[in-house]
Amino acid sequence: MPNDSRPAVLELIGNTPLVRVSRFDTGPCTLFLKLESQNPGGSIKDRIGLAMIDTAERDGRLRPGGTIVEATAGNTGLGLALVGRAKGYRVVLVVPDKMSTEKVLHLKAMGAEVHITRSDVGKGHPDYYQDVAARLAQEIPDAFFADQFNNPANPLAHECSTAPEIWAQTQHDLDAIVVGVGSAGTLTGLTRFFRRLQPNLAMVLADPIGSVVAEYSRSGTLGTPGSWAVEGIGEDFIPSIADLSSVHQAYSISDEESFDHARQLLRAEGILGGSSTGTLLAAALRYCREQTEPKRVVSFVCDTGTRYLSKVYNDQWMTDQGLLARKRYGDLRDLIARRFEDGRVISVGPDDTLLTAFQRMRLADVSQLPVLVNGQRLVGVIDESDILLGVHQDASHFHLTVASAMTDKLETLPPSASLAELQAELDRGLVAIIEDASGFHGVITRVDMLNHLRRSLP
Ligand SMILES: Cc1ncc(COP(=O)(O)O)c(C=O)c1O
Repeated sequence: MPNDSRPAVLELIGNTPLVRVSRFDTGPCTLFLKLESQNPGGSIKDRIGLAMIDTAERDGRLRPGGTIVEATAGNTGLGLALVGRAKGYRVVLVVPDKMSTEKVLHLKAMGAEVHITRSDVGKGHPDYYQDVAARLAQEIPDAFFADQFNNPANPLAHECSTAPEIWAQTQHDLDAIVVGVGSAGTLTGLTRFFRRLQPNLAMVLADPIGSVVAEYSRSGTLGTPGSWAVEGIGEDFIPSIADLSSVHQAYSISDEESFDHARQLLRAEGILGGSSTGTLLAAALRYCREQTEPKRVVSFVCDTGTRYLSKVYNDQWMTDQGLLARKRYGDLRDLIARRFEDGRVISVGPDDTLLTAFQRMRLADVSQLPVLVNGQRLVGVIDESDILLGVHQDASHFHLTVASAMTDKLETLPPSASLAELQAELDRGLVAIIEDASGFHGVITRVDMLNHLRRSLP
């Protein structure tokens, strides 16, 4: 097999397409999206993965047999793993635990070593992901700490590739670019390029509510950071490489609005972007609609939505997080994650086998199932211990019916029961079955109760 010194996949990084948004109201403006999701690693960060590794090799900071270390929300890790593994390096990544499972699985599948650390601590805390990565980089022999937050090769990659591509693709006719800030590499690189070629160009910041960057760019004051669910953008500090001097306007966007816009983009334009793409689109649409003159505006699909299928594009996760609007009753029905009336209940029939029940539980990641006759009338509940009790002496009992192992002496609660009554039911180790004269509404588990309490956090 030929062993070219430069892996061919690296030639696929960059030169991403620019598409016009055609199904949203963009006011007097024309809005284009640059599909960074089309990079081979699925995000804009392939560009800096390539640039940081090439530069470190040239500088002698990364030598054959060396290890690349980075703190990353996932995408930079994927870019570094794509390039680094293709070039034969060990890749060690520190990822905060709020990042999607798909990213972590993808990183591991590429051969990267992943250290998961806390998302709920800030700079200076020993478990903060950037501090953990810096520590690992000191401990591992021949380590190169990519350090995207301070590495000049990061903004330079955007100045030398992303920016000139946009300039050429818009035929040198462009008024504004809407960007998010993670490391600020994109913003800074674009700012430097366009300051020379189109000094009137406005940089527009799209920032999650809870991030300190938007307020800092407006007033120069550093607020208290909050938390947000959007991945890859928003910061609790101002990165050293950040150049905010061309930011004309900054929009703070809620998680609800971001996720909703990512979903709308898929439905309206057929473009599957990640959560931050929703933030950028929401800000870009606000900016476009506020203009009184026609303007040409570019924003980004920063990464592919395939790595958020279990989150942004998963109605159940969205409901659990309180990010998907649904009917509210002001009673226990509001705590049911999978409501019967919404057609979301995962159930089995009494004549199904224990194997079917077990597989359905695993697929839906639940520990119990209501048993419904014809998918309508509740006759029992089956949980993991019922199945285990049924099969532990003889695996062939997986072929027995659900009816043979389920609990059929049901204690139910009406939707009008109090939280204390619900808690008492859960304390007894049971799931709460919510039912009244109108029928079965769903079950409430401890996880549902925890989700309910978490949603009530300020
Ligand atoms: C997922 C994701 N990562 C990173 C970035 C850009 O971040 P940076 O500021 O690190 O260039 C974006 C930009 O919107 C993004 O959406």
